[in-house]
Amino acid sequence: MRVCVVGSGGREHALAHVLARSCDVVVTPGNPGIPGSTPAPATEVDADLFVIGPEVPLVDGLADKLRAAGRLVFGPGADGARLEGSKAWMKDLLLAAEVPTAGHGSFTDLDEALRFLGTMSDLFVIKTDGLAAGKGVLVTEDRAEAEDAVRAYLSGEAFGDAGRRVVIEEGLTGPELSVLAVCDGRHAMPLAPAQDFKRIGEGDVGPNTGGMGAYSPVPVAGADVVDEVMERAVLPTLAALQRRGIDYRGVLYAGLMLTPQGLKVLEYNVRFGDPEAQVVLPRLRSDLADLLAGAAAGALAAAPEYGDDAAVTVVCASEGYPASPRTGDLITGIETANAEAGVTVFCAGVSSAPPGSGGVVSPGQNNQGLETAGGRVLNITGQGPDLATARDRAYAGVTHIDWPGRYVRFDIAAKAVESVSTG
Ligand code: AMP
Ligand code: GLY
Repeated sequence: MRVCVVGSGGREHALAHVLARSCDVVVTPGNPGIPGSTPAPATEVDADLFVIGPEVPLVDGLADKLRAAGRLVFGPGADGARLEGSKAWMKDLLLAAEVPTAGHGSFTDLDEALRFLGTMSDLFVIKTDGLAAGKGVLVTEDRAEAEDAVRAYLSGEAFGDAGRRVVIEEGLTGPELSVLAVCDGRHAMPLAPAQDFKRIGEGDVGPNTGGMGAYSPVPVAGADVVDEVMERAVLPTLAALQRRGIDYRGVLYAGLMLTPQGLKVLEYNVRFGDPEAQVVLPRLRSDLADLLAGAAAGALAAAPEYGDDAAVTVVCASEGYPASPRTGDLITGIETANAEAGVTVFCAGVSSAPPGSGGVVSPGQNNQGLETAGGRVLNITGQGPDLATARDRAYAGVTHIDWPGRYVRFDIAAKAVESVSTG
């Protein structure tokens, strides 16, 4: 089978890497660190299956366009992608489907928003309605900061049009969990759960990012928790989409919090998580292409199979991320990191270094040096028989990677490893 992966980040590199176990893979536009990258747009690529990675092309209707041209596509149409494209729409759907979620209000009017905020206490959560690359969520105990954010969002100053409607939510507490389910319109099957680290700083402090690392499996999320997520969240959501006439074929990614009052959905994404994909996909034992092609055709067959191994991924980011990442620095050590046992480097925000700049050979097809070209630059995934080994391997890989200002969180999966070792 020939598969076309759409996107250019670490998630797409992981998709391509795992699909290449059984398929020819082309990635558009990809990046110079991803083998099989092509500048040809998806609409001009010939493939048996198209897998769309990022949310923006999904929200913009790329899946509809490809389906209209007779292509087999894994990824929802623009109708289903509203789940991620509008948090207010998503919250309405969750209420209609009786899926447990944080209480909320959605507002375009400043006075109404501030009045609602005035009724809340303790922990304030402000979200842009529209897409903001994972950065549009503020969680704070400081009322003045929450009010300032509401002003900055609604005026368009903070996130442009994405923030002109805000969702204000009650603050919840508890461990977080990502459950990604593969859907064929009517049925859904969960992939192994993962946990993501959203804040920039160690100890989960500082602004939200797209994600600074992830691990899988998650000790707090046994089979019973995944079953509950499917029964209380994913399946009712899929049924509610069907009732609205939406044939949802793709990943339904539930971002969850395990609160003292039970599990609650914080958000849905309409795609694989990034960096969750970089730990969930390499662990798959069954064939990824079969799974995605089955879902795309509306006929999910066998459930994905996992062993009891583990994976940890650590994001190497640019100095200044998430506010203003510095770019253009030469990256060294990718080859050496890849040569470590159980380590795979996935390339995200990279571009080709200019000739003569002396870069290392990239793991991609182009054999040229790479330089930083975005906030999240590389994902170093370690795999092993257990979380502790996977974590040690990921960080052993990280030690080889360098560029001026490289930023890494050194506490990814630390608590999970500790919880396993202390039982
Ligand atoms: P979201 O993009 O909606 O998943 O939000 C990003 C992050 O903000 C989540 O992973 C949580 O850490 C945090 N968050 C979102 N909603 C809430 C909430 N209602 N209460 C507490 N934290 C939240
Ligand atoms: N890792 C969070 C996301 O993909 O949205």
